[in-house]
Amino acid sequence: MQIRVRMSMSADGYVTTPDGWPALTADPAFVSGQSHGIREFLVGCEAALMARTTFEPALTTDRWPWPTLNVFVLGSRRPEGTPDHVVSDSDPGRLLEKLGSANQGGDVHLVGGPRTIETFRALGALDKLELVVLPLLFGDGLRLTPSLSPDAELTFERERALPGGSVEIVYGLT
Ligand SMILES: NC(=O)c1ccc[n+]([C@@H]2O[C@H](COP(=O)([O-])OP(=O)(O)OC[C@H]3O[C@@H](n4cnc5c(N)ncnc54)[C@H](OP(=O)(O)O)[C@@H]3O)[C@@H](O)[C@H]2O)c1
Repeated sequence: MQIRVRMSMSADGYVTTPDGWPALTADPAFVSGQSHGIREFLVGCEAALMARTTFEPALTTDRWPWPTLNVFVLGSRRPEGTPDHVVSDSDPGRLLEKLGSANQGGDVHLVGGPRTIETFRALGALDKLELVVLPLLFGDGLRLTPSLSPDAELTFERERALPGGSVEIVYGLT
């Protein structure tokens, strides 16, 4: 099992739009239905791991965002309306243990955001950081750092151009 982060960001380095939405949602290519490589990314994944703040909007959408994945949520409380099959915990180490015991050999998509990524990186649990750099400039928003420690050591593994003008860059964490 590998824990793999996949984050979209603007070309000027913001992972959210100025009003706090994930960077990807501002891309016209996303609005017109292009996947930015997420389908290929999810082929080897069996679970999604995220923080309460990233999870909560899914409770009010028409379509459940993770139909093929087991979902694990880090947060001090379990949001009202959370389906029974979602596993939650307030302690990141305990949540990792639950993730490990449920694992059948597939990878884990760590959805975010930056504070949660740092929480699992600091525990030594993060294996890959995959960035999707969008052909957009935001001028403002949330950056990956300093929530994610600038001390994180990245090793370049591969890159590819995606339809719609984005570039995927994959780093390993040491
Ligand atoms: N560009 C992208 O691909 C992408 C992807 C996902 C998210 N995002 C964006 O990221 C932003 C949120 O990022 P963020 O860094 O502010 O917050 P975050 O990491 O999404 O969530 C923070 C929450 O996680 C829980 N948490 C984090 N570390 C913890 C720890 N050590 N122990 C216990 N609980 C812990 C806490 O929940 P409690 O408050 O319940 O304690 C905390 O409030 C959103 O605007 C979202 O749009 C972007």
